Amino acid sequence: MAALSPLFSDLTSLAPVVSLRLERAGDVAAREALLDAAMGAGRTRKSSEAIRRGRLPAEGLALVAETDDGTLVGTVRLWNVEAGDANGAPVSALLLGPLAVAPHLARSGIGSMLMRRAVAESLWRGHRAIVLVGDAPYYGRFGFTAGVAAGLVMPGPFERHRLLGLEFERGALQGAAGLIRASGRRLPATEFAAAV
Ligand SMILES: CC(C)(COP(=O)(O)OP(=O)(O)OC[C@H]1O[C@@H](n2cnc3c(N)ncnc32)[C@H](O)[C@@H]1OP(=O)(O)O)[C@@H](O)C(=O)NCCC(=O)NCCS
Repeated sequence: MAALSPLFSDLTSLAPVVSLRLERAGDVAAREALLDAAMGAGRTRKSSEAIRRGRLPAEGLALVAETDDGTLVGTVRLWNVEAGDANGAPVSALLLGPLAVAPHLARSGIGSMLMRRAVAESLWRGHRAIVLVGDAPYYGRFGFTAGVAAGLVMPGPFERHRLLGLEFERGALQGAAGLIRASGRRLPATEFAAAV
């Protein structure tokens, strides 16, 4: 091929076209491989995993990113959770995670695409707040802060400054205190047995 004009030299390193869609049953193997590659073997020992185990993601809130040749390159899931408020009445929210992008396409904007869509879908579906455990410098750009999640506790070891929340309505997490617990649909027993 003839030498590219300097005008186009950046295009050789451009990321492929990526689109988002809902996760499908057939994505399991590719999604697991992606999570292993992006997060490593310790990923199943996280406290968030204790909330997710044996549950289905919240309705319509398991998204994947794929390239135009059908390769899965990103994933995000959200889960129904609740925590008690000061009067003991449960406050409902979503727990976001894991979010992961294929390492060879990191910093191409795929994580941000998934996050923006996940937040928007959560809002459109009537949820009031999202919590997650992650890096504040990254999730802060989507509106997450530690302050609104200050009263919450994960079921297992966690770093307080990494437990973050996003309120769609001011005060949606106000008074939310104590242990975050799963409140979503349970995985059918046969699928749970296959997943552990
Ligand atoms: C974190 C992750 C999802 C980001 O996805 P991505 O597609 O690479 O991110 P984007 O391209 O949308 O955004 C890139 C920007 O985020 C920043 N960023 C990425 N990870 C970051 C982190 N952990 N802390 C702070 N900033 C981070 C990058 O520096 C870059 O900043 P810039 O826009 O100023 O250049 C991805 O790197 C990943 O899968 N990491 C491994 C799994 C993981 O850690 N998941 C999150 C659990 S907390």
